[in-house]
Amino acid sequence: MRIAVCPGSFDPVTLGHIDIIDRAARLFDKVIVLVSFNPNKQNAVFSVKERMEMIIESTAHLDNVVVDCYSGLLADYLKQTGAVAIVKGLRAVSDFEYEFQMALANKKLYDGAETVFLTTTGENMFLSSSVVKEIASFGGDITDFVSPAIKDRIFDRLCVPGKSDADI
Ligand code: PNS
Repeated sequence: MRIAVCPGSFDPVTLGHIDIIDRAARLFDKVIVLVSFNPNKQNAVFSVKERMEMIIESTAHLDNVVVDCYSGLLADYLKQTGAVAIVKGLRAVSDFEYEFQMALANKKLYDGAETVFLTTTGENMFLSSSVVKEIASFGGDITDFVSPAIKDRIFDRLCVPGKSDADI
């Protein structure tokens, strides 16, 4: 069985992530969506448990996708699970330098860690968890950006009613 890991912060999971997970699920026998620790993003809005729940709800249509979390090195997780690939989405050239560095570091740490990059669809190029959080915090419509199953949960957490000009 060929297992792939889709790692990320997923704070929260967006339709851009789901598109990549969906396509990875067609390429591999099993896909583990892994809520991982990014030292550069220490102030998550959602807890790991909440992020996992939202991924489970957003990927309910995919039979060969499971969700897990891990606080250690991704390379070690691959070793432990026997996964053969890390699948990451690339939105733009600006993503590439960081992702390329990560791919090389993971391969150095564990020779079996191959990174597969899937290019995002044109319509998701601008989409990120940060964009979703910012739009929701201003009371904007996030319908096109996250799964319908989790939209209200994100909105309820982030939308602060009664923002006024004094908050600027
Ligand atoms: O969604 P993100 O925040 O861009 O995902 C980055 C993530 C979490 C996949 C990356 O930070 C990661 O792999 N963290 C685990 C620690 C690790 O293995 N780092 C890479 C080796 S330097």
